[in-house]
Amino acid sequence: MYRAIWAVGALISCVGVVACSSDAGSGGVSPRATPTGSTVELPAPRTDGELSLEETLAARRSIRDFTPEELTLEEISQLLWAAQGITASWGGRTAPSAGALYPLEVYVATSDGLSRYLPEGHRAESISTADVRGASAEAALGQAAVAEAPAVFVITAVPARTEAKYGGRAERYVHMEAGHVAQNVLLQAVALGLAGVPMGAFADEEVARVLGLPPGEVPLYLIPLGHSAEDG
Ligand SMILES: Cc1cc2nc3c(=O)[nH]c(=O)nc-3n(C[C@H](O)[C@H](O)[C@H](O)COP(=O)(O)O)c2cc1C
Repeated sequence: MYRAIWAVGALISCVGVVACSSDAGSGGVSPRATPTGSTVELPAPRTDGELSLEETLAARRSIRDFTPEELTLEEISQLLWAAQGITASWGGRTAPSAGALYPLEVYVATSDGLSRYLPEGHRAESISTADVRGASAEAALGQAAVAEAPAVFVITAVPARTEAKYGGRAERYVHMEAGHVAQNVLLQAVALGLAGVPMGAFADEEVARVLGLPPGEVPLYLIPLGHSAEDG
């Protein structure tokens, strides 16, 4: 049902805006609970877990309804690490990157505000203390999951980083990389007992405006995440 809703929404090119209330609850911990411009060290990521890779793959499903329970700082930290954490002394990360040029950025939006992941030192930088989930949902054709998820990961790209070496091949490389990162996040969510959905249906300029992205940086994916409220 909701699949049809977002697909139809994409076709009508973002004219209808559904009410996007933010009922994600309060009191959750987020890297955002810091002054704008400051950085916070995140809890060290784990490299073990309860589920096997096969069990995690078998359990992954796109989930769009979430309970109001906030994510813990440890969970957000682990999800950010899965997205772009540094796992090699030379700077290699959890997701592959063409030429190891790393054109992607990862943001997390919660009720506390918006943060950007800094892989070096496994830190988060506070971008804003505003809750941008509601406005992001409007930019995403009114998809309520964006407003209602306790955390929304946003994968953006600075294509110039890859274009400098790969020219016209860069666009496809950057998009491939976003897929790698999104799948890492979605599988890590399952391994943590969480769930999410990758979303590509949104108005690019509007999401860029809501997030305050600098020129040359474009949004590629919105990933609402939380505890599933869906049956089964
Ligand atoms: C590139 C891409 C874009 C997507 N965009 C949306 C979206 O905007 N909204 C949404 O609800 N689901 C979106 N999805 C999720 C798909 O609807 C979902 O993966 C599909 O229905 C298969 O279900 P599953 O993920 O549970 O296996 C997207 C998936 C991909 C791969």
